[in-house]
Amino acid sequence: MYWQRARRSRSTFSSRAYALHYFVFLSYLACTACGKRHEWGRLQNLCTACSKPLFAIYDLEAVRKLDCLKQSSFEARDTSLWRWRELLPLPKGAEPISLGEGGTPLLRAEKFGAEMEVDLWIKDESLNPTQSFKARGMSVAVSMAKFLGAKKLAVPSAGNAGGAMAAYSARAGLEAHIFMPRDTPRANVVECREVGAHVTLIDGLITDCGAEIARRKEKEGWFDLSTLKEPYRIEGKKTLGYEVAEQLDWRLPDVILYPTGGGTGLIGMWKAFSEMEKLGWIDNRRPRMFSVQAKGCAPIVRAFDSGEKFAPEFPDAHTIASGLRVPKAIGDFLMLNILRESKGGAIAVDDDEMIRAVREVGSEEGLFVAPEGAACFIALKELRGAGKIDSGEQIVIFNTGSGIKYLDCFET
Ligand SMILES: Cc1ncc(COP(=O)(O)O)c(C=O)c1O
Ligand SMILES: [Zn+2]
Repeated sequence: MYWQRARRSRSTFSSRAYALHYFVFLSYLACTACGKRHEWGRLQNLCTACSKPLFAIYDLEAVRKLDCLKQSSFEARDTSLWRWRELLPLPKGAEPISLGEGGTPLLRAEKFGAEMEVDLWIKDESLNPTQSFKARGMSVAVSMAKFLGAKKLAVPSAGNAGGAMAAYSARAGLEAHIFMPRDTPRANVVECREVGAHVTLIDGLITDCGAEIARRKEKEGWFDLSTLKEPYRIEGKKTLGYEVAEQLDWRLPDVILYPTGGGTGLIGMWKAFSEMEKLGWIDNRRPRMFSVQAKGCAPIVRAFDSGEKFAPEFPDAHTIASGLRVPKAIGDFLMLNILRESKGGAIAVDDDEMIRAVREVGSEEGLFVAPEGAACFIALKELRGAGKIDSGEQIVIFNTGSGIKYLDCFET
């Protein structure tokens, strides 16, 4: 038995939960801004001192010392993201809420790559349950919320996060309350309702949906699962980083292009890279990380270009790539730090070009990508043209969702 018994005060657990015997490498939650430590053994949202996001901190030294856990041990495990169990927050003995998320293919984009003269790979996240990478975050967050005693969950969503939260809540037997902008793609709305969620459509943006939840959550008894406003969606998303490293034989690519809204995937991968280095699995080289946004909603691009530490709210946000329609992100300072530290950048793409790129990628590579994923291919062309990516470099693009959820955007 190599799992550690979590040393926690009894008062932070319900007696039933405590009785289960927890073995876990999760040590505590740390504020990403002021560093204040928080107990993980109860439901937590933001830092109680400064209202910034919390990160899960593990005893990686203990994981590193495990004789029976090496990089190669993972090959024998099942392909879902729960294969990284020692690096996830759910204690042993608690059953994950899983639909088989993670373990997606890293596909070579031969033709597009040859045109760009780069070694191009696509991490195809459309193969996740509910057809997007949001399944990763929700599997871990819903598992932890249930474990820690939540009964009713609420989330503001641009579309895909709502669908994933609805599905995992149904599986967990928890109530799901989803707030979406009225113009969210129809597929996302129908999907949420058909898996039993309570859906409210709001005349406004995702930030207005979040504000509505904040207003009502205490009275309604909802636990708020908003992006980065609880600590575990990012833990699910960080498995993107572990998988890419494993799929590239524990050598990270030169460049990562990531379609950015709230930024959990970007921030999560960066966290994974640092964990893997502490585990001795990779060296200190990092990819240049690029945030790809839509011209109609590019707060991170603007803040990056103007050298700001935080990204002010982007006015009149609009784009057909609904996942990128996030005018203000609570993790803005974390993203901007990563883009700068990695010597990457941020780039905005036009909606019409995204739609054209869906067909280009589809007909060349055989994938019906989401507009968010397509945006990264345009970004690659522009970054190559601007000399920010060299020929022969290895690039990973994240296709975060499926075009099938966006049929309203395409002519028939
Ligand atoms: C398909 C798709 N891509 C990208 C994003 C942005 O993700 P993140 O919040 O990790 O930046 C979203 C978010 O809704 C999405 O649905
Ligand atoms: Zn703080």
